[in-house]
Amino acid sequence: MSRTLESRIALVDGWLHPEEARLLFRLAKRCKGRGGIVEIGSWKGKSTICLGHGSLAGRRTRVHAIDPHTGSPEHSELFGSVWTFDEFCRNIDEAGVRDVVVPHVDGSTNVAERFNEPVELIFIDGLHEYEGVKADFDAWFPKVIPNGTMAFHDSTCWPGVLKVVSECVFKSPRFRKVRFTRSIVYGEKVARATAMEQLANRLRYAWFLAHAWMDRFTWRLTHRYLDCRLTRALIAYAKQRRQAKAFACADRTREAKSAATGPGVTRPA
Ligand SMILES: C[S@@+](CC[C@H](N)C(=O)[O-])C[C@H]1O[C@@H](n2cnc3c(N)ncnc32)[C@H](O)[C@@H]1O
Repeated sequence: MSRTLESRIALVDGWLHPEEARLLFRLAKRCKGRGGIVEIGSWKGKSTICLGHGSLAGRRTRVHAIDPHTGSPEHSELFGSVWTFDEFCRNIDEAGVRDVVVPHVDGSTNVAERFNEPVELIFIDGLHEYEGVKADFDAWFPKVIPNGTMAFHDSTCWPGVLKVVSECVFKSPRFRKVRFTRSIVYGEKVARATAMEQLANRLRYAWFLAHAWMDRFTWRLTHRYLDCRLTRALIAYAKQRRQAKAFACADRTREAKSAATGPGVTRPA
């Protein structure tokens, strides 16, 4: 994933860590076109753009972006009434992934009922309580092709997501090569994993639990125990610096582009 793309993605509102953004790009890029890419929970398009650009760099597999665009319960608590579709469309257009993205403005289980295509990659980041994530898993697992990938965001800090990835992915004989990057757990669906593959999943699960514990500990430390004016100001300052860097990088790219296409400049053949 190029620096320009990374800085563009940094400007879109959302909760994806840069390492997670790179992972989604890679997973989408390696799709072979044997099925579609599905995203549950798009918000304003941050993860959709990563999947879209990954797809464009690979086989141009369609990305089905599913979201009612009215937010999850936690968003309504924070922001009141939510409507993200207009900003989602603007961000998708600006990022140049419109051609491969198919928006579905509806809940994921409703879409699953009428969705008849095979799925090669699915990224689940919609409802975060156990019942919601499990319903997503149950509705979409049968549609994922053999050797297709299922990925789950926020599996370290959200107990419901953690429970689903523990029961249905790490401990399941239906997945192999289960890995994690930051809060994303992902694995490859198979008819039946071999004993060695299942053992490898269990070992990685122990490692993942330690990682999830650390993640929750850091979150609690910064959001609860060290939550004072000074830390809030430091976090805001760090965020501002990251954004300023992203803006500067985007500006430099725009300038370089206009210099290359401007009058008097001969493009290399
Ligand atoms: C955490 S946000 C997704 C963030 C997004 N993936 C990103 O990287 O910016 C969760 C999203 O799930 C959506 N959502 C809530 N219920 C849903 C459902 N039943 N099906 C699909 N999406 C849902 C919300 O509207 C919200 O936009």
